[in-house]
Amino acid sequence: MKKLAFLFLCLSSLSFAVDYDPQRGKMLSLSCANCHGTDGKSNSTFPYIAGLDKDYLYKTLLDFKTGKRTDTYMMTKHTKGFTDEELEQLSYYFSKVK
Ligand code: HEC
Repeated sequence: MKKLAFLFLCLSSLSFAVDYDPQRGKMLSLSCANCHGTDGKSNSTFPYIAGLDKDYLYKTLLDFKTGKRTDTYMMTKHTKGFTDEELEQLSYYFSKVK
């Protein structure tokens, strides 16, 4: 069932030709929820990332990915699993969370 939902999200995201795709952003954001909370609204010791500036988010994620910013835990490893375009989608997504 999870796989089907995933496939559906992938297929439906193909119909958007815009820069920012909320569905895709949402789908990608699921992998961040374990630590940063649903939609980045962390209620633990992990940073609260909901509603941060899009450019700040994107730059930070790229810095983790390229090793410019080092972290104590998972972000370097985690961001390496995404393309730059996916990191930008994630940045849009979290910046738009109210
Ligand atoms: C395994 C837990 C974990 C996962 C999964 C995770 N993060 Fe993080 N994230 C952290 C921790 C811990 C920090 C604090 C890192 C540090 O500065 O040492 C952090 C920091 C960040 C920061 C920097 C916040 C700031 O203002 O300094 C951003 C942005 C971020 N994460 C985004 C994401 C995104 C987007 C995802 C999903 C693609 C994600 N994280 C997945 C644990 C996680």
